[in-house]
Amino acid sequence: MALSAADRAAVRALWRKMGSNLGIYTTEALERSFAVFPSTKTYFQHLDLSPGSAQVKSHGKKVADALTEAVGSLDDLPGALSALGDLHAHRLRVDPTNFQLLGHCLLVTLARHYPGDFGPAMHASLDRFLRCVFAALLARYR
Ligand code: HEM
Repeated sequence: MALSAADRAAVRALWRKMGSNLGIYTTEALERSFAVFPSTKTYFQHLDLSPGSAQVKSHGKKVADALTEAVGSLDDLPGALSALGDLHAHRLRVDPTNFQLLGHCLLVTLARHYPGDFGPAMHASLDRFLRCVFAALLARYR
């Protein structure tokens, strides 16, 4: 699925607005996924998952940086995300379903923080962006 010019503009505008707060939101989305979809915790047994955990925060920052890199590489997401795809596919063996669950939690988290921006158009653009990110990660699952 290709991102339209409008999708790209919407995603880039939201990223500019979020700035360095993105790490807070990805951490919140991770915590939300652990609470709403407890099976996602399976992969993080080795980390301290208690609320406010510094380890989850550190991981949230890594996910935020990876997404920001993706926003900067919209013309070549498979290339930008290939190493991360290999990691999740072959070393971590994350079941692909989990990407949808985390993506859902990220959409809900961002909608709560930016209710004024989060009309259907932004919702759809961000959903399409996340689907492209997941498709790029999943391309390494073979
Ligand atoms: C938006 C989708 C995702 C992105 C952008 C992403 C990004 C990342 C990044 C950047 C790292 C750190 C890599 C490194 O240290 O070299 C990582 C590690 C990891 N990811 Fe993901 N990830 C995503 C989805 C998921 C999902 C859905 C799961 C499982 C529910 C997951 C499980 C893990 C685990 C277990 C690690 C290793 C954590 C550790 O040992 O510190 N990831 N991910």
